[in-house]
Parts: sequence; structure tokens; C-alpha cells
Amino acid sequence: MIFKVFKTMVSLGNKRYTRLWPLVVLLTLVVILIWRNLQQARTLTLPRISRKNFGKFLFLNDNETSSSGLSSTEDYPRDQLPEELPFLQPLIETRERSPRTLELQKLVNCRNRPLRFQRLQHGEYWLLQNLVIGSESQFMGCAESITYTTNGDYTFFDNLEMVAERWQAPISFAIHAPGYDLNSTLDAIQYVKNCLPGSHYINDYVTFHVYFSNLHMPVYVPLNEADVLNWPYKCMEENGTLATPPYTQVPREAMYKVKANLTYPINVGRNIARQASNTHFIFACDIELYPSVGFVEQFLDMVARNNSVLALDPKQPRRVYPLPVFEIEAGQHVPENKAELLDLYRNGLAQLFHAKVCPTCHKVPQQQLWMNRAPSVRDELKLFSMTLRRDKFRSWEPFYISDNTEPLFDERVTWEGQSNKRIQNFAMCLLGFEYHVLHPAFLVHSPGIKKQPSRKSGRLKYAKAMTKFIKSKIEPEYRILYGNTTGCTT
Ligand SMILES: *[C@@H]1O[C@H](CO)[C@@H](O)[C@H](O)[C@H]1NC(C)=O
Ligand SMILES: *[C@@H]1O[C@H](CO)[C@@H](O)[C@H](O)[C@H]1NC(C)=O
Ligand SMILES: *[C@@H]1O[C@H](CO)[C@@H](O)[C@H](O)[C@H]1NC(C)=O
Ligand SMILES: *[C@@H]1O[C@H](CO)[C@@H](O)[C@H](O)[C@H]1NC(C)=O
Ligand SMILES: *[C@@H]1O[C@H](CO)[C@@H](O)[C@H](O)[C@H]1NC(C)=O
Ligand SMILES: *[C@@H]1O[C@H](CO)[C@@H](O)[C@H](O)[C@H]1NC(C)=O
Repeated sequence: MIFKVFKTMVSLGNKRYTRLWPLVVLLTLVVILIWRNLQQARTLTLPRISRKNFGKFLFLNDNETSSSGLSSTEDYPRDQLPEELPFLQPLIETRERSPRTLELQKLVNCRNRPLRFQRLQHGEYWLLQNLVIGSESQFMGCAESITYTTNGDYTFFDNLEMVAERWQAPISFAIHAPGYDLNSTLDAIQYVKNCLPGSHYINDYVTFHVYFSNLHMPVYVPLNEADVLNWPYKCMEENGTLATPPYTQVPREAMYKVKANLTYPINVGRNIARQASNTHFIFACDIELYPSVGFVEQFLDMVARNNSVLALDPKQPRRVYPLPVFEIEAGQHVPENKAELLDLYRNGLAQLFHAKVCPTCHKVPQQQLWMNRAPSVRDELKLFSMTLRRDKFRSWEPFYISDNTEPLFDERVTWEGQSNKRIQNFAMCLLGFEYHVLHPAFLVHSPGIKKQPSRKSGRLKYAKAMTKFIKSKIEPEYRILYGNTTGCTT
């Protein structure tokens, strides 16, 4: 086109056409303007077309998007939100919102933000945050849902389908993958995304974050989501039988983590998963704990029905909303609602979580009343009882819904050291948090009832040292940081 214009211009050098020159300049300007407008229109419409696969689009077409400043995902300091990104913001603002969502968003005053891939440093750990993004979760409104935040390594993947199917809302999953465990993690991600009957729940909702210590670098690290989605996987054997999940294949002693004698940094994973969520309410949970069905809608309906279940006045003590936790005998169907739970309970097939191992860790206030209260026909969610984590409940380790403003988990504590939730609850005791137990929602641990831990358990030697460290170092620190409230213990 430019060549043509040039040719015309040469022929216009002719004297008798000189008075046409201004016209030509004007025409060229018009053409340039139209062309620019078209370019802009194109960049604005492109993402709308591929909204579901936007994550893939963003990274596959590095060259295409670089002109609009998107190819660099590294330019934003952590937690600085990409509000000004021309692509993402219109998308999140055009997602349809229900009246409840709009009302709740005004009530809690939260801001919508899309999930996007970032490489971050987290202490000694490298973090690939939002490496694979759930398609529904990416543009989820901040008041539209609740994020189940959890952690694990690839050996925990067998719980994911159950959690995703029951939760049906965003899941933020932080995975510890040092050294070559990262390869097995990619095998596991591809398998759960492609080979399970419930894979679509995982694709819709689960966002995967991968982290590893800089002292235990993998040789290979995927550069973007597309690299993960292109990782080879196998759902079927050649003879037509279903392939066994790769995460059940690798023997424990072959794991990089075990070979390198690493402990599991559970609280690092917990914090990563929390900090990566884009909803106002979160549920920091362990992945073996399955929520009762329909919980997210029940909770948001409860808040919409009665705003004062939230502590909206900054002068009120802050609140979290625990769910009672149960365990059931191996082989039993995981109960979906309280009626099914009661059936098992009355037949001696369900009991309070850790009833034998640590009876005070999961006992909820007025346990018996909770059990006896009839579930309403519509399973309407209510605040059941309020308590502080002290006195009889001083070693309570509840799992609760929160607005993600409670203290983070102390990252010096490992899974092997146990007590990994107690410190956070200690801080919350010092801060005067109220625990409002919900009814009739609950959690069920992956079937199989835990017996007394064996004496030989490798965790014991860690646990003893950790308890000492907590008492002598962590507890005094927290009393200085959070206030020296009496009656609180770790
Ligand atoms: C981007 O452009 C570079 C150089 O032109 C090329 O080597 C690379 O393959 C391109 N990448 C994509 C994703 O198209
Ligand atoms: C992990 O995967 C990468 C990329 O495919 C490969 O180069 C590497 O050899 C693998 N490592 C192991 C231990 O299999
Ligand atoms: C199919 O192949 C797998 C692995 O190659 C093997 O474990 C399984 O027993 C085979 N099944 C049948 C029915 O041959
Ligand atoms: C493994 O770690 C523990 C605790 O840090 C240490 O006592 C032990 O000596 C280590 N073993 C090896 C083989 O590195
Ligand atoms: C709303 O919730 C508050 C706090 O739990 C409670 O005191 C109040 O009775 C509830 N109101 C209604 C109408 O249920
Ligand atoms: C907290 O208070 C107790 C007594 O009330 C006191 O013995 C202790 O030194 C205090 N700790 C800190 C860190 O101020």
C-alpha cells in the first residue's frame, strides 16, 4: 500500500498536479488515522474472543501482545494489581454479576482483579504463581465466590477431584516441587486436568502455584501455562485400560524431597495459596478435608440475608467462621449434607476429627448441641456459637472462613514439626478474634480414621525440637508483636 502511494507521489511530481499536493497529504493522514484505529480496535476485541483460554492466549502469543505491554509479566511488584492493564480490566469488569454479588461487593468494599502468571520470590523459595489458572477463577469477582486455599505436593493430588467437585468455586493450590519432583508435579497436573471424570471441575476452578527452594532448583521449569498444558500425559494404556494416576506411581523414597532430606514447608504453601487468591472471602483448608456440598452459595446467601454476621464496624472484635471437622470409616460414602453425616454418626461410622489422637484440637463449642440441632429443610447456614480460643479451647486448631486479613502462618514451622496451625491461632487469640462456628456445614476428612500416631513416627523428633522453639522463641516474639493478652497459649 505504501509502495503504491509512493508511486503516485512520484507521478504527481509533474508540475500540473502540484496543486493536488495538499490533498494527497491530507489523504495520507486520513489513511494513517484509520489504520491506527483499526489496530486499536483489534487489540480491544481479541481477548473477548478467547476469554476462556485467555491465559493460554496471553502466553502463546508473546510477540503479538508485546506491543500492548502485556508480554512482560514481571514489571509489577508483588500485590500491585494490574488494574491498568488494558486487556484484563475490561474482561473482569464485563463478567456478569448477580445482584447478590453487587450488593456484597459494596458491603465488603473489595476490588476485582484477574489472576495472572507471575514469577515471585518468597523468602528462599521461587514461586510460579498462577502457573495454571482455573478458567472460571481467572475473572471471578471478589464478592462472587470463596476461594479454598490449600497446599501439598504431587502425592496429595488424589484429593483434588473430590474437593473441586464439592466446592465448585475457586481453589488456590500451592505445590511444593523441589528438584525433579517438578517433573512428577507436571505429570500430576496434566493427569488431573485431562484424565478424570471430574477433570472439568479442576479445569474450571483449580489454580496451580508451584514453588521450590533456590537451593533445590529443578533442571527444567515451565516458562508459562502453555508449557504445562503441552506436557505429555497418558490417560489410557496401549491395551485400552485406564492408566493409573502418575502421582500414585512414584514410591515415596524416590521423591527428590525425601532423597534430599527436606522437610515440608507447609506454612509457606498455606501463605502462598492465601496470597494468590482473588476473592474477598477465603477458606484456608487442608486438601484432605472435603466440605459439605453447596457451602459457598450457603455462606454468601447468609451474609446477604443478614449483613451483621460480619463484623463490619472496625471497633468490633474481628471474626472467623469455623466448620466442625469429622472423620469417617474407610469405604464409607463421604456425606454431602448434615442428614447424611448424622446417619453415619449414629451408626458409629463417623466421629469428630482426631477424637482419639487429639480430642481437644477439633472439639467445637457445644458439640452435642451442634449434633442435635436439626438441619433446616433448605440447609440454611447460621452462626451457631461464638467462642474465643482460650481456656477449654486453647489448643483448638479450627479450619475457618475468613476475609484473609487474619495473621499469616509462621513459615519457620514445618509439617514435620506439627503445631503448624497453633501459632496462627495463638496470634489470633492475642488479637481477640472471635470464632463463630457455622451450622449445618461441616468438613469430612478423607475416609479412614486415624489411630494413635506410632512411636516410631519420624515426626516426633522434629516435633519435640519445634515445641521448644515455639515456647522459647516464637511465643515471646508474638507477645511483643501482637500484644501481651493473658489467657492465650500456643
Ligand atoms: C517471537 O519472535 C521471535 C523473534 O522474532 C521468535 O524467535 C519467537 O519464536 C517468537 N515467539 C512466538 C511465541 O511466536
Ligand atoms: C524433567 O523434564 C525435562 C523436560 O522434559 C527433562 O529434560 C529432564 O530430563 C526431566 N528430568 C527427569 C529427572 O526426568
Ligand atoms: C494393560 O497394560 C498395563 C500396563 O502396560 C498393565 O498393567 C495391565 O495389566 C494391562 N491390562 C490388560 C487387561 O492387559
Ligand atoms: C536429615 O535431616 C535431619 C534434620 O535436619 C538431620 O538430623 C539428619 O542428619 C539429616 N540426614 C541426612 C542424611 O542428611
Ligand atoms: C443477624 O446476625 C446477628 C449476628 O449473628 C444476630 O445477632 C441477629 O439476630 C441476626 N438477625 C436476624 C434477623 O437473623
Ligand atoms: C507478658 O506478661 C507477662 C505477665 O503478665 C510477663 O511475665 C511477660 O514478661 C510479658 N511478656 C512480654 C513479651 O511483654
